[in-house]
Amino acid sequence: LGPALGCLSAAALLAFIIIITTQLLARRRVQDGRGRAVLVTGCDSGFGQQLALRLDREGFVVFAGCLCPEGPGARSLAQQSSSSLKLLRLDVTSDADVEQVKAAVLQHLPEKGLWAVVNNAGISQWAEIEWSSVQDFSHMVDVNLLGAVRTTLAFLPLVRASRGRVVYTSSIFSFFTCLNMAAYSVSKRGLEAFADCLRVEMASFGVKVSIIQPGNFGRATGILKTMTGSDIWEKLDKEKQQVFNRRYIGLASRYFASACSRGFETPDVVTEAMLHAITSPRPKARYLLVAAGERPFFQLLPFLPTFLTDRIFSFSHMYAKRKEMLYS
Ligand SMILES: NC(=O)c1ccc[n+]([C@@H]2O[C@H](COP(=O)([O-])OP(=O)(O)OC[C@H]3O[C@@H](n4cnc5c(N)ncnc54)[C@H](OP(=O)(O)O)[C@@H]3O)[C@@H](O)[C@H]2O)c1
Repeated sequence: LGPALGCLSAAALLAFIIIITTQLLARRRVQDGRGRAVLVTGCDSGFGQQLALRLDREGFVVFAGCLCPEGPGARSLAQQSSSSLKLLRLDVTSDADVEQVKAAVLQHLPEKGLWAVVNNAGISQWAEIEWSSVQDFSHMVDVNLLGAVRTTLAFLPLVRASRGRVVYTSSIFSFFTCLNMAAYSVSKRGLEAFADCLRVEMASFGVKVSIIQPGNFGRATGILKTMTGSDIWEKLDKEKQQVFNRRYIGLASRYFASACSRGFETPDVVTEAMLHAITSPRPKARYLLVAAGERPFFQLLPFLPTFLTDRIFSFSHMYAKRKEMLYS
């Protein structure tokens, strides 16, 4: 019994040392920001704006891409930041904007180069598939997916040269299938596919790629644009108005508004994760950022068979109401 107990204690001690060392390594910052630049897209508001300010305080040279550099969000960012933060007009759907930003970055590149690109710019809108047009899908994909692809292709050579980081702001909707989020899910699932492929390709160059998966931060950022049941109803043709009755659309609108009135009140959890992805020597491939009580569900969800996940959703109050109200 003695030698067995000895072996067990030694193994426990070894496991303890490995866990502590791993945690310490994960916490240690890879380096401070001095001499390194980070490009962040979508800094007019929300996660992007807070991250830009945080990186500025950490000493990075921040290239803050703003959709409206003359707007109130960009002006407030300029007021709160140091002179080394550069505000740049950047609509990620525009090749010309991306080229101009690249020229500005090259002109002001600090001695250690471009360390990271954070693809954060994004839009969101909710609608059932049949309430949407091809243009609705195309616009969502253009901003959320192709915007990130365009930015990545332009800046990858600079990030590769510094063996740096590329970060993508995805969403739980990349893997969480539910009503009303088809266009957004398409764009975020595509974004994750792109990021996963890039991570594999970049590993041999020493570039690390991370995906941020926020849950519900609707109250903490400017992502939610109000849309009433009437807004949707007016867009539908006669045939669709007969299928989706007005009461159901009103209910869907109230359900969405109430879901978004819950969730995180500040963007801190997300910006901390982004900072970790940029500065940790061991950034994670994915950062799932949901409330503690939701974590087990979202961690398990991608591993469940489709018939089971579809069944789980069919039990929800909203699904039952929808079935009852359609055609009524
Ligand atoms: N908040 C959440 O609950 C949540 C959850 C999961 C994922 N996300 C993702 O997080 C990212 C940041 O969003 P957020 O929540 O911080 O919302 P936000 O406050 O609306 O920030 C998004 C930013 O992107 C900008 N933008 C929109 N279209 C753009 C374009 N074509 N080119 C460049 N910038 C553009 C917006 O500018 P304007 O303000 O001028 O429109 C805004 O500054 C998005 O990718 C979003 O999908 C958010």
